[in-house]
Amino acid sequence: RMMKRQIACRGDINRMNGAFLATYESLIPPEEEKSKQKQLLALLDGIVSKEWPDARLYVYGSCANSFGFSKSDIDICLAIEDANIDKSEVLLKLADMLQSGNLQNVQALTRARVPIVKLMDPETAISCDICVNNVLAVVNTKLLRDYAQIDVRLRQLAFIVKHWAKSRGVNETYQGTLSSYAYVLMCIHFLQQRVPAILPCLQGMEATYCVTVDNIKCAYFDKVEKLYGFGSHNGESLAQLVWAFFNYWAYCHDYANDVISVRSGSTLSKRVKDWTRRIGNDRHLICIEDPFEVSHDLGRVVDKFSIRVLREEFERAAEIMQYAPNPCVKLFEPY
Ligand code: CTP
Ligand code: MG
Repeated sequence: RMMKRQIACRGDINRMNGAFLATYESLIPPEEEKSKQKQLLALLDGIVSKEWPDARLYVYGSCANSFGFSKSDIDICLAIEDANIDKSEVLLKLADMLQSGNLQNVQALTRARVPIVKLMDPETAISCDICVNNVLAVVNTKLLRDYAQIDVRLRQLAFIVKHWAKSRGVNETYQGTLSSYAYVLMCIHFLQQRVPAILPCLQGMEATYCVTVDNIKCAYFDKVEKLYGFGSHNGESLAQLVWAFFNYWAYCHDYANDVISVRSGSTLSKRVKDWTRRIGNDRHLICIEDPFEVSHDLGRVVDKFSIRVLREEFERAAEIMQYAPNPCVKLFEPY
């Protein structure tokens, strides 16, 4: 079923653009939410600095990468310089302090893949997850935010794709579908591939930002204000891009051989990455290279059952974008 169809986009696609833009606008968090987040962050900062005066709190994930919807949870990273700390101990200690600080639903999950403390602030009704020294996530958050500044169509497309994935139940890594982070990378890759390109490849340009985290060198061009208007030679509308995005993942992506790579601004072959065989639980049925942890395939959570669910959802979305009278409603119908 792959690459069998090269269908032309429907002629009336731009009639749908207003509806997609309105959906995007409705998902943007209002300013007052941002100030509540700041308020909670200040409260947490006060609690943390009592025990660890040199530690710092960083917001990462959807509240900091500009791809967050209204009412998102906050992801926070507690960065402690001391290399000898025991993460579980820190998290248990932190949970204790938060509890005494009147935060609610405090829970330390020390055995999770990324160990965290969960909490809810009764004052702002915001929930958040705090992890320790996950600095790579802070850096990849900056990369996503920087890409989003270059062309507004990235944020618009990613909002529609995330909203679709959440509505259709394919944004659940514990069920073998993809994380929001993976979907945003798919959008960036897709916009790098448009002709003319809507996004550049920041990691392929002169590095103006460079940090080394967990022995991984993270370097890229981050002076994105110099890149405003980069995609202006491409006049595609949001509706056209949504159509083409689903068409790509339904009918054009070569699942058997290709890895999408935002880092290189193109696709790579699975052979080059040695992602051709199943190793342990990593099956590599859909391959999305992490931009910095390049040995990390964000598609590794996908198994032989969930790959079918995912591909059927891409095909459903592509059909809707091509034929439905009102795609912007039908696309998001609950499963
Ligand atoms: N992350 C990561 N590696 C992954 C998954 C996530 O480094 N395999 C980091 C990224 O920094 C990402 C953050 O964790 O921005 C949060 O991931 P996720 O919950 O998938 O994305 P959000 O943007 O927070 O989306 P949502 O609105 O669904 O919470
Ligand atoms: Mg999140």
